[in-house]
Amino acid sequence: MAEAPQGSIHGEALEALLHERRSFPPTPAFVAQANAQQSIYTDAADPVEWWSQEARTLEWATPWTTPLEWDLPFAKWFVGGRLNASVNCVDRHVTAGRGSRVAIHWIGEPEDDRRTITYNDLLAMVCQAANALTELGVRSGDRVAIYMPMIPETVVAMLACARLGAAHSVIFGGFSAEALSDRIQDADIRFVITADGGYRRGAPSALKAHVDEALKLCPEVHRTLVVRRTGQDVEWQEGRDVWWHDAVESQPTTHDPEYFDAEQPLYIMYTSGTTAKPKGILHTTGGYLTHVSTTYRYVFDLKPETDVVWTAADIGWVTGHSYIVYGPLANGATEVIYEGVPDAGGRDRWWRIVEEFKVSILYTAPTTIRTLMKWGEELPAAHDLSSLRLLGSVGEPINPEAWMWYREHIGGTRCPIVDTWWQTETGGIMITPLPGITAAKPGAAMRPFPGISVDVVDNDGRSVGNGEGGFLVITEPWPGMTRGIWGDPQRFKDTYWSRFPGAYFAGDGAKRDEDGDLWLLGRVDDVMNVSGHRLSTAEVEHAIVGHPDVAEAAVVGASDETTGQAVVAFVTLKQSAELGGGDEAPLVKAIRDVVAQSIGPFAKPRQIILTPELPKTRSGKIMRRLLRDVAEHRELGDVTTLTDPAVVNLIDEMMAVHGADED
Ligand code: WTA
Repeated sequence: MAEAPQGSIHGEALEALLHERRSFPPTPAFVAQANAQQSIYTDAADPVEWWSQEARTLEWATPWTTPLEWDLPFAKWFVGGRLNASVNCVDRHVTAGRGSRVAIHWIGEPEDDRRTITYNDLLAMVCQAANALTELGVRSGDRVAIYMPMIPETVVAMLACARLGAAHSVIFGGFSAEALSDRIQDADIRFVITADGGYRRGAPSALKAHVDEALKLCPEVHRTLVVRRTGQDVEWQEGRDVWWHDAVESQPTTHDPEYFDAEQPLYIMYTSGTTAKPKGILHTTGGYLTHVSTTYRYVFDLKPETDVVWTAADIGWVTGHSYIVYGPLANGATEVIYEGVPDAGGRDRWWRIVEEFKVSILYTAPTTIRTLMKWGEELPAAHDLSSLRLLGSVGEPINPEAWMWYREHIGGTRCPIVDTWWQTETGGIMITPLPGITAAKPGAAMRPFPGISVDVVDNDGRSVGNGEGGFLVITEPWPGMTRGIWGDPQRFKDTYWSRFPGAYFAGDGAKRDEDGDLWLLGRVDDVMNVSGHRLSTAEVEHAIVGHPDVAEAAVVGASDETTGQAVVAFVTLKQSAELGGGDEAPLVKAIRDVVAQSIGPFAKPRQIILTPELPKTRSGKIMRRLLRDVAEHRELGDVTTLTDPAVVNLIDEMMAVHGADED
């Protein structure tokens, strides 16, 4: 590989782990009741036929005529079929007599802030919102931005858009006004749904104010619908801004749905690539819904009558779309949605929620597991977690220590753990163990999901053997696959389909162990993964050079014990830059702020290292690997310069190891 993959398990640690060959087979008790049949992998030998069979579990107004049209790299699934995603997630459960089942147990960050929403309630809310959006002018084919906290109205807004055939683009509430306006412009959005704010870390945060700021650059947006969540003061633009409680809550609670083509755009989710400009990943309706509902049923072994599921992720990212909204609701599940951070009201908040609501399936990210782990096992031990029967992990490679802790201290050694690999682009889970069917190994995502074809290839695209590593590729189309980058088909081809002709290049390194099981090793490109948030080095560099004193910046993702990776920036200053009395701290703070302003606070560098020049190869390429080593191998202060003797020595050592040229 050109570049050693990032992530928490690689190199010697991985070798040691493989050597141990630790493996947990399914327990007989679980096998006896698993949704997946032992024959599932062979049943899916013909993927198109198998996915079609799964697609029939959805409600279609018109059946499809052709299951797949594949014009590489553009797929159409269930061609000619018509359906409505919101009908599949809500109405059909009510029609089937299950309307009194709880859909959402919502828990706000402030204690005692609770709402219980049944499928009957959810249907009424979605219909009201669809009626209101229609009145405001939203039509099939439009795009609607959603910039909201983790409240039930966010789910309702998404489903109402889907009901009308308008694509939503949910923008994570941590993004800045600038990031918001970039996305609104890129997707040519005319409607925004937001809230005054939300609760985060014990205090109300502002959302509407960011929208106001963003819309100064987006004159095309002529309507915003605003939920009152915190009661904070907001500015109001008459004629444009409408309160949710005025526009929605007086509407009729019924709405006749229209049925849309299987390929009707369902949503656009912006994600970071290797350049500074985020990509609008497009998902459509029929194939996506089939993928997320099927994976939810088998990977999480969902029993909708008895399970209480909790995907502890933000709705603003793809995990929330697929496994808070569409996957669980399409299956008629009862779920917990919690608004806030894990330590609001005490570091045992999560365990109190599990105990009170008898959560049986918990899905979260390794970064959170490591944080909970740091807080100590006494906290989960003090609560009754016996309702849990399955645990999931997603977002980054899970280190074996965190896996084992999750298994012992949260899962009481009885719960299977599913480490699920997938991406915004794949729509749903692609590589995972199947509970009750496959064994699990701490740190391995194990096997492609039935109906999914993946390979690990070397630099020349040749499949590697067992015991070898390489690049992860997906070799056949799948129903939840992105239909492209919004407005940029060429970039879609170049980014994913040109590195290995005929295959989808995921950007991740992977290894097949001696048993043929898959271990994901992290990104092999310039995409960082910070606390499960995808960020591109180029995006952060672009933000930093926006500061008037900065000449050049190189950003790397350095391993971090808790967040997986952390942003470390090496910065050279312009000659004109003034360091007041040699004190670098104010400038470093200003550079951090510029990142927060351009992307969002979550993208702020952990460290900024000021340097008179950046180490480059003879061809002028910045030597990121070297910089990453510098960032990882020394306890560097908040502000360190590359001219510090300690750092100079370190670079000398590194150069001796790596050689001077990375090309
Ligand atoms: C990483 C999140 C190892 C990977 C659903 C991928 C993982 C990127 C895993 C996608 C896992 C996700 N093991 N790495 N189980 N799950 N990743 O688009 O690098 O936010 O390419 O989707 O996260 O991040 P995204």
